[in-house]
Amino acid sequence: MTFGPLTAEHFDWLHARNYAGWVVLVDTNTREHCLPLIEEYLDHDNLVFIECEPGETNKNLDTCQDIWTNMFEGGVGRRWCAICLGGGVLEDMSGFAASTFKRGIDFLQIPTTLLSQVDSSVGGKLGVDFYELKNSIGLFADPIAVWIDPTFLKTLPPREVRSGYAEIIKHALIADAEQWSQLQQITDLSLVDWTQIIPQSVNIKREIVLEDPFERGRRKALNFGHTIGHAIESFFLETDQRLFHGEAIAAGMIMEAKLATSFSRLSATDYGAIETYFLRIYGHQSIPESAFPELLGLMRQDKKNEDARINFTLLEAPGKAVINKTVPEADILAVLRYYNSLG
Ligand SMILES: NC(=O)c1ccc[n+]([C@@H]2O[C@H](COP(=O)([O-])OP(=O)(O)OC[C@H]3O[C@@H](n4cnc5c(N)ncnc54)[C@H](O)[C@@H]3O)[C@@H](O)[C@H]2O)c1
Ligand SMILES: [Zn+2]
Repeated sequence: MTFGPLTAEHFDWLHARNYAGWVVLVDTNTREHCLPLIEEYLDHDNLVFIECEPGETNKNLDTCQDIWTNMFEGGVGRRWCAICLGGGVLEDMSGFAASTFKRGIDFLQIPTTLLSQVDSSVGGKLGVDFYELKNSIGLFADPIAVWIDPTFLKTLPPREVRSGYAEIIKHALIADAEQWSQLQQITDLSLVDWTQIIPQSVNIKREIVLEDPFERGRRKALNFGHTIGHAIESFFLETDQRLFHGEAIAAGMIMEAKLATSFSRLSATDYGAIETYFLRIYGHQSIPESAFPELLGLMRQDKKNEDARINFTLLEAPGKAVINKTVPEADILAVLRYYNSLG
C-alpha cells in the first residue's frame, strides 16, 4: 500500500512484475476525471480498457458479465493484471470480476473516492449486490497493491467527500481518541489537507482487519453506526430522497452513541461532543415515524445479529468500542424518536 501522488515509479514496479497485459477498469466518471492522471504511465504492449456505468445500481452480476465478456474479447489471460480505478462500487465489483475470471487474475486497486481510500480498499472484501441485498455475492481476496493518491479527490463532488469522511470519524471514534479530538477542529471539508488524515485512518482499519480478517470478533467494531445507519440507508433508497452512505451512518452513529450512554459506559459529555459534531457536519435528517417498524425489521435482518436480537457495536469512550451488545427494541425506538427531536 502506498500513500501520495502516483509516479512513474509505481508503474515501473508494476512493469517489473512482467504481466502479459494490463486490463484497466474505470467507470464513466473515473474515465473522465481520474484516467487522465495516470494515462501517461499506461504503456504496456497489451492494454485493454473496460468502462462500466457508475453507481450502486450497476454493482451487479449483469455488469460483471459485461466485464468478463470484454475481458475474453480483449484476450485477457491468466497472467494479466487488472488495474481497478474508481470508487468503492468499481473497486468491489472489478476486484470480484478479476478474482473470479479464469479462477482469478491479479488486481491492483487505485481508489479514487475518500470512502474507497479509507474504507473499501482495506480488508479484502469484494462483491456485488444480488437478490436485492448489498454485497451478497462475493469473496475475500487481496489486491497485489493499493495505491492511495489524494490528488484524485480534487474532482470528487463535495457531498461524496462528506460521505467518505463519516468513515474517518468512525475509525477515530472506535480506535483513536486523539484523532477524534483533531477531527473536531475541522469545520470546512473543502479546506482539509487529507495527506495525513487518510493514512492515519487507513491504519486503524488495517490493524483491526489484520487481527480479525473474517469478522469473527474485533472487526465487528467497524460496524459502529451501521446497524441503524444501514437500515436508514435502505429505507431512503426506496424513497425519492437519496441519502448517501456516510450521511446515513452519521445519523446512525449519533443514535448508537446515544444508546451507549445507557447500554455501555459512554459519558454524557462525550456523547454531547459526538452529537454536536455530527449535526454540524451532516445536519439532520428527519425520519418519518411511520417508517420505524420497517427500520426495526431491517435491523432484525442485519448480518451481524447472532440470534433474534439486534446487535450493536457501542462505544465505551471515544477511541474504545465494545462489540456484540444487544439492545431491546423499545430502546431503539426511543432513540429514533430522540434523534428526530434534534431536527
Ligand atoms: N469492500 C469494502 O470493505 C467496502 C467498505 C465500504 C464500502 N464499500 C462499498 O463501496 C461502495 C461505495 O463506494 P463510494 O462511496 O466510493 O461510491 P462510488 O464508487 O459509487 O463513487 C461515487 C461517485 O463518484 C464518482 N467518482 C469516483 N471517483 C471520482 C473522482 N475522483 N472524481 C469525480 N468523480 C468520481 C463515481 O463514478 C461515482 O459516481 C458501496 O457499494 C459499498 O458497498 C465496500
Ligand atoms: Zn460504512
